[in-house]
Amino acid sequence: MEGEKNKNGSKSISGFSKLNKRGKIKWMVENFFKDPESVMHELMSYWHRNEAQQKILDGFAENTISNFPMPFSVAPNFFINGKTYCVPMVIEESSVVAAASSAAKYWMDRGGIQAKILGVEKLGQIHFRWLGDPKELEKNKSELQKKMLHDANEIMKKMVARGGGVKEIKLIEVDASNHLYQWLISFNTCNSMGANFMNSCLESFSISFENFIEEKKYSKQIDGELELIMSILSNYTPQCLVRAEVSCLIKDLGEFAGGMSAQLFAEKFHAAIRIAELDSYRAVTHNKGIFNGIDAVVIATANDFRAIEACGHAYAARDGKYRSLSKCSIDDGVFRFWLDIPLALGTVGGLTSLHPIAKRSLELLENPNAEELMMITASTGLAQNFAAVRSLVTTGIQKGHMKMHLTNILQQFHATESEMAQAEIYFQNNSVTYTAVREFLGKT
Ligand code: MEV
Repeated sequence: MEGEKNKNGSKSISGFSKLNKRGKIKWMVENFFKDPESVMHELMSYWHRNEAQQKILDGFAENTISNFPMPFSVAPNFFINGKTYCVPMVIEESSVVAAASSAAKYWMDRGGIQAKILGVEKLGQIHFRWLGDPKELEKNKSELQKKMLHDANEIMKKMVARGGGVKEIKLIEVDASNHLYQWLISFNTCNSMGANFMNSCLESFSISFENFIEEKKYSKQIDGELELIMSILSNYTPQCLVRAEVSCLIKDLGEFAGGMSAQLFAEKFHAAIRIAELDSYRAVTHNKGIFNGIDAVVIATANDFRAIEACGHAYAARDGKYRSLSKCSIDDGVFRFWLDIPLALGTVGGLTSLHPIAKRSLELLENPNAEELMMITASTGLAQNFAAVRSLVTTGIQKGHMKMHLTNILQQFHATESEMAQAEIYFQNNSVTYTAVREFLGKT
């Protein structure tokens, strides 16, 4: 269990995972830090003071040495489908929560956000090679499906009792020249994101499939060779879709910074969305702004943000070109702005109730079901996107951004209350840079 230097001069260790937490930190700080004592002390200062809570956090991953704090914020005044929410957000970027809150309030005064579920279908795949006639598989599909469901009854019965389970099984030709096929299986996983459920079902289905083919071959009812390749859910869920939308008369949009009229704002905003629909370079930044809001809620509720991101970006490129996820129209004097986004979220299972703060996030949202959480999350993405594009076509984003940035830099220099107040005035007309703030404070 000794740390050692390998031939490249880098440090390696065997048996690291077997060390206790203190041992892990000790090895790490001694090998990678110039000031091991103070780093060890600092890392340990982030341990939860309640040992039982810390044990829960440690259990989420492997080789855990400490906790990584992130701001847990809330954005109030989200009026969605006639109900007011205070939305939990976990994000490290300044201005994001302020922007979401400001846009939420803006739309609250204009009737709020309308959201609706367009689908809840999740997908799984069994990939295999079939050296035989695929029509034979198609012919036997319903019999096979019955067997798969029967064999997986233990895994599925609770989900089925809740109204979920398998909805459809389709045979897909992936690459006939290499005999590659897949069973594409659609699920309803009710209020859970369902990854574990689907993966357990799929692994069980694949065994049933193998047995089914063996039996059919034995009784000479089918001819062919099956080679299973893999069984796993698909994180691309274009039919697990939600729409969030805002609209009002253009004249009710109000006046914007610098006296910009509602009409001019609507036209510039509409053009900005059109640009993001047509230009992938802009679309990526535009959608990143949407995910500022989406990810923050997804993380706050302990959902899987990597799955949500991967799916959202694939959806943005569904016609072969990466485009904006949001759309805007300005017809007949009405401004309409909406976002369609696939969000495979859960409010039960996974870490949703294990993570102590995620549990509070869901409580703050009054324990929504998965569909309600999809609508809240999409609405936050829409508000975030509205706020970003509103800034971009009016004042530019740096004004708001730099104000927050200034606070962060001042805090790094341990500025006093009075220095903070003076700096705020001074930097209204001067650019905020790290050096400028340091000089302003007279620090070296
Ligand atoms: C910054 O985190 C997000 C924005 O760049 C989004 C956008 O450009 O629409 C402001």
